[in-house]
Amino acid sequence: MFYHKKKALLALAVYALLSCGIPFATIASPFPVSQSQINIEALPSPSPEPVYVIELPLPPVAPSDDVDACTKRINPRGTGCIGKTAELRNGNFLPDNKHIVATVTFAGAPAAPDPASIYTGEQLIVIKTDGRTFANGDPWKCITCGIPEANRNGTTSLLEYPQAFKDGRRVLAGNNIVDCGAVLSSPACRPEKARIYPTYWPTTADGSGPGGTIRENRIHPDNMHMGFSSFTTTGGVMGQYAYFGRLVFNPSPTSGTPRVPRYELQNVTRLYDPSALQPFSVYGDELRINNEAISVGELRGFSGSGDELTYVGSNWESSNIDLFAADLTTGHVRRITQHPGYADPIDISADDKWSVILDTRSTNRTMFMAGLRHIPPLTDLVSSTAAASIRNNGQRRFFQPWLLDRAGDRGAYFGQQLNAAGDGSPGSVNDPQWNSQADPRWSWDRTKIAFYQTLTAPPQCGGVNPLPCPVSTADGGRTYRIMLATLTSRIPIKPRTVKTVSDLVPWGVPYVPGQTTPTRWYPPAGMYKVYGKVSGHAAVTLVENSAGNGLEAVAVRYEDYSDHVGVVIHGSENVTAVSDSLTLERVAWYSNLTSSGDQTGSKVTSDGGFHLLIDMMDTEFVANGTLTTTIDGEIYAQPENYT
Ligand SMILES: *[C@@H]1O[C@H](CO)[C@@H](O)[C@H](O)[C@H]1NC(C)=O
Ligand SMILES: *[C@@H]1O[C@H](CO)[C@@H](O)[C@H](O)[C@H]1NC(C)=O
Ligand SMILES: *[C@@H]1O[C@H](CO)[C@@H](O)[C@H](O)[C@H]1NC(C)=O
Ligand SMILES: *[C@@H]1O[C@H](CO)[C@@H](O)[C@H](O)[C@H]1NC(C)=O
Ligand SMILES: *[C@@H]1O[C@H](CO)[C@@H](O)[C@H](O)[C@H]1NC(C)=O
Ligand SMILES: *[C@@H]1O[C@H](CO)[C@@H](O)[C@H](O)[C@H]1NC(C)=O
Repeated sequence: MFYHKKKALLALAVYALLSCGIPFATIASPFPVSQSQINIEALPSPSPEPVYVIELPLPPVAPSDDVDACTKRINPRGTGCIGKTAELRNGNFLPDNKHIVATVTFAGAPAAPDPASIYTGEQLIVIKTDGRTFANGDPWKCITCGIPEANRNGTTSLLEYPQAFKDGRRVLAGNNIVDCGAVLSSPACRPEKARIYPTYWPTTADGSGPGGTIRENRIHPDNMHMGFSSFTTTGGVMGQYAYFGRLVFNPSPTSGTPRVPRYELQNVTRLYDPSALQPFSVYGDELRINNEAISVGELRGFSGSGDELTYVGSNWESSNIDLFAADLTTGHVRRITQHPGYADPIDISADDKWSVILDTRSTNRTMFMAGLRHIPPLTDLVSSTAAASIRNNGQRRFFQPWLLDRAGDRGAYFGQQLNAAGDGSPGSVNDPQWNSQADPRWSWDRTKIAFYQTLTAPPQCGGVNPLPCPVSTADGGRTYRIMLATLTSRIPIKPRTVKTVSDLVPWGVPYVPGQTTPTRWYPPAGMYKVYGKVSGHAAVTLVENSAGNGLEAVAVRYEDYSDHVGVVIHGSENVTAVSDSLTLERVAWYSNLTSSGDQTGSKVTSDGGFHLLIDMMDTEFVANGTLTTTIDGEIYAQPENYT
């Protein structure tokens, strides 16, 4: 369990590493940015919509994980119980828009041969979202409980990111594909007929070995392709690349393990090209920031039409972690979020017109570091991992779901929080102690959104932590819940058919099994000038680390610098980041910046600077000194240590 938590945290953190080295290449992009780009900032923003949020039913809760804890009194139908604090995930909708898939952790089952003994451990279920029940009276149905070992040979954890295919019969769950042979919600889908197949990514020239370690899997809407990510650990620093490939069923593989019927990833493209335009480039003593560069840190999914992929990318503004989309064919990049809050989970509706994101923007969590807008992402060459890692306090997330229209954040439009209405009381839909977690999912008719939440738990509350622990008001005292938001004024639409896209992503690099992974380029140490897009300039000093495999410090002095009409940045800032381990960073930060014009504000550190020790997996905030952002008189301070 702990392992999965770590994985989930990492899923959200690692995009930042890309900034540790952005490949050196000053060649012009093969995809020039269209001159006719519409002025997104000027688009009118949509009116807030009525939203109705409910909690979806789940199996009853066992008081403990002990054998037989799930008694007949708790579940008279003998269809299992879930653990009180055990993990679950919501998945997407079946094509009928009346069911979602989900993974849950069953607990307290009786021992075999009791028929209820199959309701144990991580399993895939479907949940009715229309208030109805299956024939046995349960509003859920377990799909994988009781699948014989021989029919799930070589498979692994089902927990992460369950995603049903449009055939309604198959579901990607973790690194596996569950195939029930019939629509999951139908009586014909039974465990005796279901199979689970592993996925396999060949990464050796001769096809031997266990294949590559993949994560953050997302099915492309053509249902033929899949996007995924994979970690790298070069030079003692963690990084990751995203990939895109075709899923091909191989009933009888002759190489590699597990040598069982499996789905193989073929014709894989690495979504990073060292020879393409990079987020930074060097021209003599000038350092340029290239917003049109494609900088896929972690792939987050695809648009509804499948034309674009979404990702957490290189920042356009300092410390401000955002979501981007890149066209799979042309490589055209657009920025979806701008708010200084941290966002990474996203789902785009089938008609491409809406996004739902999870973002910290309702809490001001990241404002002390990212609040001052339109500072170029220069210290980010060393500080972006820290800027990403402050978003959580361990398992306590500060995410809530937000609705954005297609063009995303712009001007004064920052979307609509879906679960904003409520009295904030314990267990209410807007109880801030229920934190949302990845991924939210649209119904195909784009009238509903499913998302899940967890309740703040020790050590993020209680004991020495100043935050008292909330008491769960959920059924059985469980600390997970799945929510359903309905946009009640919407008329359901039929999703259009999605055409199968090419295996080739022209701006990526075909992956050849066995080839070595490139390292990301970063600008060489030295002194540079950066010119503001509107006016002024910045003098930048980049310092290499002692190992000679990355940058360690960035010092910047801004002189009437402006990237945005009406906002002028002045002052100096420097950040040094040293890796204590693959994931632990020690950051020394000095800021003395002012912003004038439309946004009057400052970003300043206390005497002696702001010193942060942060592990990108643990995301526990421990600092000495302060970093404070003030905007138009509003003061944003950092969180207290350990909160
Ligand atoms: C699983 O597959 C392996 C490799 O083909 C085989 O040796 C083993 O017997 C299979 N196990 C089951 C339970 O089918
Ligand atoms: C895709 O992979 C298959 C099998 O490895 C190969 O035969 C085919 O040529 C590849 N297609 C492309 C477009 O590379
Ligand atoms: C966030 O800051 C704004 C001021 O910009 C304030 O109105 C709001 O109450 C703050 N939210 C929280 C949760 O502190
Ligand atoms: C960063 O700023 C602090 C405070 O002004 C200063 O002591 C330190 O030398 C600076 N570091 C670099 C690398 O410029
Ligand atoms: C911050 O910058 C201002 C001028 O912009 C300067 O007067 C002040 O001394 C600086 N503070 C520190 C601590 O360097
Ligand atoms: C904070 O200061 C203490 C005492 O000097 C030191 O032991 C600790 O490492 C510092 N923590 C950070 C994050 O710099």
